[in-house]
Amino acid sequence: KAADIVKELEEKCATPTAKLRQIADAMTVEMHAGLASEGGSKLKMLISYVDNLPTGNEEGVYYALDLGGTNFRVLRVQLGGKSGIEFTEFAEVSIPPQLMIGTPEALFDYIASELAKFVSDEGDKFWLPPGRQRELGFTFSFPVMQLSIDSGTLIRWTKGFSIDEMIGRDVVVELASAMKRRGIDMSISALVNDTVGTLAGGRYGNSDVCIAVILGTGSNAAYVERAQAIPKWHGPHPKSGEMVINMEWGNFRSSHLPLTEYDNTLDAESLNPGEQIFEKMISGMYLGELLRKVLYRMADEAALFGESVPPKLKTRFILRTPEMSAMHHDTSADLRVVGNTLKDVFGIMDTSLSTRKIVVEICNIFATRGARLAAAGILGIVKKMGRDTIRDGEIPKTVIAMDGGLYEHYAEYRSCLENTLDELVGDQLAKHVKLILSNDGSGIGAALLAASHSRYL
Ligand code: BG6
Ligand code: GLC
Repeated sequence: KAADIVKELEEKCATPTAKLRQIADAMTVEMHAGLASEGGSKLKMLISYVDNLPTGNEEGVYYALDLGGTNFRVLRVQLGGKSGIEFTEFAEVSIPPQLMIGTPEALFDYIASELAKFVSDEGDKFWLPPGRQRELGFTFSFPVMQLSIDSGTLIRWTKGFSIDEMIGRDVVVELASAMKRRGIDMSISALVNDTVGTLAGGRYGNSDVCIAVILGTGSNAAYVERAQAIPKWHGPHPKSGEMVINMEWGNFRSSHLPLTEYDNTLDAESLNPGEQIFEKMISGMYLGELLRKVLYRMADEAALFGESVPPKLKTRFILRTPEMSAMHHDTSADLRVVGNTLKDVFGIMDTSLSTRKIVVEICNIFATRGARLAAAGILGIVKKMGRDTIRDGEIPKTVIAMDGGLYEHYAEYRSCLENTLDELVGDQLAKHVKLILSNDGSGIGAALLAASHSRYL
């Protein structure tokens, strides 16, 4: 019986190459539709107002706030012009869960208070010319309708945040008033998504970077589009001829996606049912929970863990993706890590080797599906950019800046993603399409964008 459930899961989660190609093509089609008109697609294809990426000449001390991943971060980055980043310093805290579903004021007050602490700790080490305010880049990793580089309204929350009152409000106005209440004298020069920050940070270190992908709590991508290829953009034509687009690919959906009953219940029970379907299949917030759902069914229908269902197996989100990853990477002969994790997380005392093996198999099914789907998404972008073909006798180099805890720490996921992308682009192109880890690129990217949009320039 347990074997049947695994077999059925494996079949439903299958991602043969032909299916991935269909998904990549669907991604490309939706990208076109989202660029054509507002509301034209599930993909919002948000205009970032970033029409110039860092050049490497940025100079001075800039600050960044980074909200929306596992942790909230405050950073200070000293940019030394041609000599690069001289140093960065940061403080990191996790956002108390009640603030994620509380009021805008409480959330932004918390952020401002962390910023105030960070700044007061530095004393007068960072001297600024008189009359010059400190400047800040704000990485806010949710869908925002930007009105300019330094303003934008929240479209909706994702990833476990849910503060209704905030929808439609300007994120920068909220932050600025919280800062004012705390007496912080700083101006907010850039509001960016984490993907846009990662693209900026990635480009700073490597001029071939033109796509950024986050695989962390949530998942999303940004890339450099030709301004002319954005029919919905009616603003002035940027000099560079380019515009960074925040795709919000987490909300991608296609009939080709291999959805299972577990995905459907996960979605139905979530804070945002019907939304972020792609994200719910591939990102770190959800993988562990999918695994738990399957284990629960196996306990219930196939008595995988004995006569009765272990009570903790019913608790949603009790199994997190880092634990899933630890079990998936267990190389001990008796799968000790799996046994201990089942004990620690669910209170399941004794498990046989064959049961542990089944658990690893399920980890593998979901991680493989997620990684392969993410690779298909990337192929969709590469195709949309026309970087999958030989141009003027040459194959362009495409470097994709990657960030997020899932990509960074889940080795099986990461290698599966890399292998699948190579497989999808084919031998000839594989050498020219590369993923690089751009660790914490998004905080640095926000500081760089604050520098390039400084009001003192
Ligand atoms: C960080 C970025 O490195 O990765 C954040 O600076 C981003 O902006 C985050 O949101 C995503 O990772 P995770 O795993 O913390 O969600
Ligand atoms: C969610 C957010 C998106 C962000 C991504 C990664 O999908 O909606 O804005 O980029 O998570 O953090």
